Amino acid sequence: MRPKDLAIWLWLKFYLMLEYRTDIADCANDCQCLGKHVVICSGRDLNYIPRMPNGTQVVVINGTNLSHIQENGLVNLTDHVIKKIEFENNLITFIHPNAFNKMVYLKSLYVRFETRLNVNILKVAIGNMPKTHLKFLHFRYNEWTSFPQDMFTHFPKNSLKTLWMEGNTLYSINCSIFAHLKNLKKLYLPGNSISRIYINGIPKTIMEIYLNNNLLHRVPNWCEDHHILSSALPDLRVIELSSNSITDIGKNAFLCLPRVEVLNLDGINIGKIRSNIFASMKMLKTLKLSNIGSPLLKKIEDYAFNSSSLTSLTMEHTNFHFNKDRFNPLTIFASSPNLEYLSLTNNYLSNDETIFWKMFSPLVKLKKLILSSASLSILPRYVFTNLKYLKELSLAANKIRSWGDGTVIFQNMTSLKKLDLSNNLIKTVNKTSFPINLLHSIGGIDLSNNPFTCDCDLLWFSDFLKSTSTKFLRYPLSYRCNQPSEMVGTLLIRFVESKKTCPPWNPLFTMAICIACFGIILVTLIVLGMKCQTNIKNYIYLWRVQSSRKKGYISLPEAADYQYHAFVVYCDADRSWVHETFLGRMEQEEGVKLCIHHRDFDVGESITENIDKYLERSWKVVIIISNEFAKSEWCQWEVDVVQERRRRHGRDVVLVIMLESIDSKHMTRRLRTLLESANPIMYQTGLGEVLFWKAVTESLRKPLGDPPTSQL
Ligand SMILES: *[C@@H]1O[C@H](CO)[C@@H](O)[C@H](O)[C@H]1NC(C)=O
Ligand SMILES: *[C@@H]1O[C@H](CO)[C@@H](O)[C@H](O)[C@H]1NC(C)=O
Ligand SMILES: *[C@@H]1O[C@H](CO)[C@@H](O)[C@H](O)[C@H]1NC(C)=O
Ligand SMILES: *[C@@H]1O[C@H](CO)[C@@H](O)[C@H](O)[C@H]1NC(C)=O
Ligand SMILES: *[C@@H]1O[C@H](CO)[C@@H](O)[C@H](O)[C@H]1NC(C)=O
Ligand SMILES: *[C@@H]1O[C@H](CO)[C@@H](O)[C@H](O)[C@H]1NC(C)=O
Ligand SMILES: *[C@@H]1O[C@H](CO)[C@@H](O)[C@H](O)[C@H]1NC(C)=O
Ligand SMILES: *[C@@H]1O[C@H](CO)[C@@H](O)[C@H](O)[C@H]1NC(C)=O
Repeated sequence: MRPKDLAIWLWLKFYLMLEYRTDIADCANDCQCLGKHVVICSGRDLNYIPRMPNGTQVVVINGTNLSHIQENGLVNLTDHVIKKIEFENNLITFIHPNAFNKMVYLKSLYVRFETRLNVNILKVAIGNMPKTHLKFLHFRYNEWTSFPQDMFTHFPKNSLKTLWMEGNTLYSINCSIFAHLKNLKKLYLPGNSISRIYINGIPKTIMEIYLNNNLLHRVPNWCEDHHILSSALPDLRVIELSSNSITDIGKNAFLCLPRVEVLNLDGINIGKIRSNIFASMKMLKTLKLSNIGSPLLKKIEDYAFNSSSLTSLTMEHTNFHFNKDRFNPLTIFASSPNLEYLSLTNNYLSNDETIFWKMFSPLVKLKKLILSSASLSILPRYVFTNLKYLKELSLAANKIRSWGDGTVIFQNMTSLKKLDLSNNLIKTVNKTSFPINLLHSIGGIDLSNNPFTCDCDLLWFSDFLKSTSTKFLRYPLSYRCNQPSEMVGTLLIRFVESKKTCPPWNPLFTMAICIACFGIILVTLIVLGMKCQTNIKNYIYLWRVQSSRKKGYISLPEAADYQYHAFVVYCDADRSWVHETFLGRMEQEEGVKLCIHHRDFDVGESITENIDKYLERSWKVVIIISNEFAKSEWCQWEVDVVQERRRRHGRDVVLVIMLESIDSKHMTRRLRTLLESANPIMYQTGLGEVLFWKAVTESLRKPLGDPPTSQL
């Protein structure tokens, strides 16, 4: 700091200190002076009203030990132009009848929390007070149970405008007590225990009456002396009746109120709203019906809100179920066509589109519609689109997840400036969510506190957020991802910036997927093929046999030329299969006669002779091969014998049946040659059994002389 600046700073500080000191000097010990006009004195050691600095206009005596105000008790104020005196929470028990006599400029007198003061003592003092400037009287929280009926009789030619009698313990009030207050405009009687009020005699000038937080059981009668057509309050504009014990509002409750514009019935406990009860107030503009749902609002009758003047209706926190049995959607707003403001927050709106449509279609003049916390899970189609003048629509704190095509919901809302969809269950926003012209014309959309899913579906929205001039309210701080789990709580704007993780679709991906699919199909085919290999082999064989037969080759030796159809070569180990299964099937079912050495050979002759003899009598040869067969040298010797036959009559003379696959360790060269040349048929049980038997019979019956299958 330069020396010059320092000097200025020091001088300034000194000057301010002086100023401060002069203020202090003027202000009495227990007082605090605010600005030039206000002095607040407090402290229980103060028991008088001290001297005030020049210019004092407002004096607050708060929490002092002041108990008696004698005739000259306000002498320290008489030199000033005191406009307002407030007594609060002192211990006042006595006020001299003439104590206020010199308070000629007084505009406002407040007496609050003076619970020791008898209202009759105050009555006398203010009765003598000059009242030419008096505009405001506040008698609040003094625990007075009644006001004397002549409280204001000494108020000739007064100009009192506002009278507060809040928070006392009044049980009933006869309004003729105010009769002399010929200029009274506002009467406040809230927070008492008033259960009866007699309006008669009330000044006709009153424009606002506040009777909230009392114990009224019914709406007061506003007509003069029961003359139905004559209003006791022809100028009344505002009626506050909230939080009373009113349980029913009769048909004629609001007669004789030609000028009322605002009616507040918040927190009363009516079970139903009757038809046409507000219709008699021809100037009614604002109706408040919030919190009337305790215990429960059960019914809204037809045309309940019938009023051609009504522009604002608030029915919040009523927990009303907008179901068909509780109200008629066609009539509820049908006769309130001038509504511009409607709030139904904290009710249960129907999620039935038709009910919606019926309810809201008459309200074409709406400018502001609040349907938050109304358990909506749908957005009705073609309802909001009718509301051409709607400026603000709140659908916050509902259960809306998505709404498909935005055009049928938000189209044509050319006046809409604010749309609140915050605190819903919206996961994503895409191109179709809002009509494009809405996004251009709207002032702000609130989508905050929705559980966004930050994946590629949100890409359009995040791109849009970057590029658009549309204002998203509370963006970016209240827009967070709720999914996927690793992104919970991440700001949407972060996701927008890390967009790289979500690349555009690459044609290479399509190719890769096609190749992968093809591979999978191929592998499946191969596996299937391996599993059914023997079936396939048998099938191919059968097909070849059939096709070669069709070609009509002439058979050389016919089956009829022989005693046996076929000679069966088999090993002892397979005897039971041959005797039981094979013979049974072939001889009994197919009528094929077989030569079996155990049965047919002649006893006494050598095996070699028998074989030669019976082979001659057999047309074909069947060789049954198994692992046992392969192991046995003897059995294979028979094969050698029949091979000779094969050389003469061709390959079709031999049919090889494999009972099982042969272990490689038993596979001899001889056997391999046989198997390779003879197209063996593999014995199958289960699935392939039928096919097996078919192949066996077909090939046994097949005439000889067909060309070798390998040449087919
Ligand atoms: C308040 O005034 C009474 C007498 O009027 C006196 O007895 C009492 O001590 C005073 N209280 C204080 C805190 O000065
Ligand atoms: C007026 O104020 C002075 C000092 O502030 C005080 O001593 C005196 O008692 C007051 N007069 C009255 C009547 O309260
Ligand atoms: C307050 O007013 C009185 C008389 O009106 C006068 O004598 C006195 O000087 C004034 N005091 C201040 C600080 O202005
Ligand atoms: C009086 O004092 C109480 C407690 O300090 C304070 O709450 C209240 O606002 C004061 N009243 C006025 C009128 O200043
Ligand atoms: C109200 O007060 C007036 C005047 O004191 C009296 O004539 C009238 O009967 C009172 N009304 C009721 C209902 O007490
Ligand atoms: C609505 O109120 C007006 C005025 O009281 C009345 O004439 C009209 O019949 C009412 N409409 C319905 C549908 O009840
Ligand atoms: C947009 O999202 C809605 C669900 O919110 C869905 O039904 C619709 O198919 C989506 N449209 C496009 C173009 O992705
Ligand atoms: C929007 O307004 C046009 C012209 O008034 C009308 O033809 C169209 O049906 C409206 N669209 C919707 C969705 O209401």
